[in-house]
Amino acid sequence: MIRNWTFTVTALLLVTLGMMTATFLATSLRGQAQTPDTQRSLAYFDRIAPVLQHPRCMNCHTSTDFPRQGDDSHPHIMNVKRGAEDLGTAALQCSTCHQKANSASGVPGNEVWHLAPLRMAWEGLSAGDICRSLTDPAKGGMTYERLIAHMATDHLVAWAWQPGNDLAGKPRSTPLISHGDFGQLVRDWVASGAACPS
Ligand code: HEC
Ligand code: HEC
Repeated sequence: MIRNWTFTVTALLLVTLGMMTATFLATSLRGQAQTPDTQRSLAYFDRIAPVLQHPRCMNCHTSTDFPRQGDDSHPHIMNVKRGAEDLGTAALQCSTCHQKANSASGVPGNEVWHLAPLRMAWEGLSAGDICRSLTDPAKGGMTYERLIAHMATDHLVAWAWQPGNDLAGKPRSTPLISHGDFGQLVRDWVASGAACPS
């Protein structure tokens, strides 16, 4: 009888202790998510996301087997396809039309003009999911240092701020903040913990 009692009391104590630990952990984890650094980091990403989601970037980061064009991101003219290596098909390579620089006739250009690989597709993702995909080894998987360098200096990223005129001769729109400010925001975001919105 006494043995039974001791057993029950011990079991109850253990359960209570377990629940207290769980509550404590949950509280401290929530506390962590609210540190000033994390809040700052999320605020930085709030300003980074609209750049990533701008049509100048999204038109190449498609989840389709074709690139997109214009601020309405319509499918690329002439049924242009992604191809096995994101450079177009054997019959119609991106480089057939896209030269090393923007052409006066309205074809955008750059050193190597090609689509971002499908694992780096952002089309249809929330800002939080784009954020997480950047460092996910199954997707982009860049280290933070490479990510900073890429956003600040990569030639295709830089093109989005020098996109030239479209076929109709109208200047293509650019992200609302400058490339310099964007690079700094990415640095600040990483330095504050690279938090992603849920
Ligand atoms: C037959 C010629 C041709 C081929 C091949 C071609 N493009 Fe284009 N591309 C164009 C023209 C012309 C424009 C400009 C359209 C406009 O301004 O209305 C353009 C525009 C674009 C844009 C739009 C930029 C923007 O933000 O509005 C992207 C992205 C693009 N092409 C990607 C590609 C990719 C990637 C390939 C290869 C898979 C490719 N293109 C193959 C002719 C071509
Ligand atoms: C002409 C097509 C094109 C445009 C425009 C473009 N990208 Fe990309 N992006 C690529 C390609 C291709 C890659 C794959 C990396 C490589 O081959 O350099 C890539 C990779 C990336 C990556 C790495 C993704 C990861 O998860 O590791 C980031 C970040 C990125 N681009 C940001 C941008 C931003 C920001 C813009 C607009 C300001 C932009 N890109 C515009 C083609 C493009």
